[in-house]
Amino acid sequence: MKEILRLEHIQKYYGDQDNLTKAIDDISFSVHAGEFVGIMGASGSGKTTMLNCISTIDTVSAGHIFLDGTDVTELKEKELARFRRENLGFVFQDFNLLDTLTVSENIALALTINNVPAAQIDGKVRETAKTLGITDILEKYPYQVSGGQKQRCACARAIINQPKLILADEPTGNA
Ligand SMILES: Nc1ncnc2c1ncn2[C@@H]1O[C@H](COP(=O)(O)OP(=O)(O)O)[C@@H](O)[C@H]1O
Ligand SMILES: [Mg+2]
Repeated sequence: MKEILRLEHIQKYYGDQDNLTKAIDDISFSVHAGEFVGIMGASGSGKTTMLNCISTIDTVSAGHIFLDGTDVTELKEKELARFRRENLGFVFQDFNLLDTLTVSENIALALTINNVPAAQIDGKVRETAKTLGITDILEKYPYQVSGGQKQRCACARAIINQPKLILADEPTGNA
């Protein structure tokens, strides 16, 4: 299978010389299309930092990250925003749902920012919600549903554009 992700000697430091945290110290690995990879490690071992670097939300201190052949550590902010939208799905540890939008609207947002025609949005949202078993909460607001349901909503938002790579931080923590 095709290589979809490659990390080459990633390092990430926080702080400055007097107060330096080495969150990631020389990590290299690759993931191929269709693979499902779980990363385990103690709290504070750098899992979230690494996912944020792969998802281009954060930048590395050294090393290179190739996503489907593109070195994302070389992209400028404008190119990055587009690259993220078109290629990546992300489920955050704390979900990042918008409390002023319904579950349905939160999921639809991922389609709207990718310029999916309005006429297709409702059908796609319903189809994805059905897959994740959250059809009955589509018109509720995030603060009216359980942690597990919020998480499914975040998962729906991450997969609805059929991204090449889905990154999830502690995705089963509220199941
Ligand atoms: N923004 C930050 N500034 C300084 N240190 C940080 C920051 N984010 C994380 N760290 C530190 O980096 C290390 C890795 O954290 P993190 O990636 O959140 O670990 P995990 O997700 O595995 O629990 C920890 O020591 C943490 O305290
Ligand atoms: Mg974490």
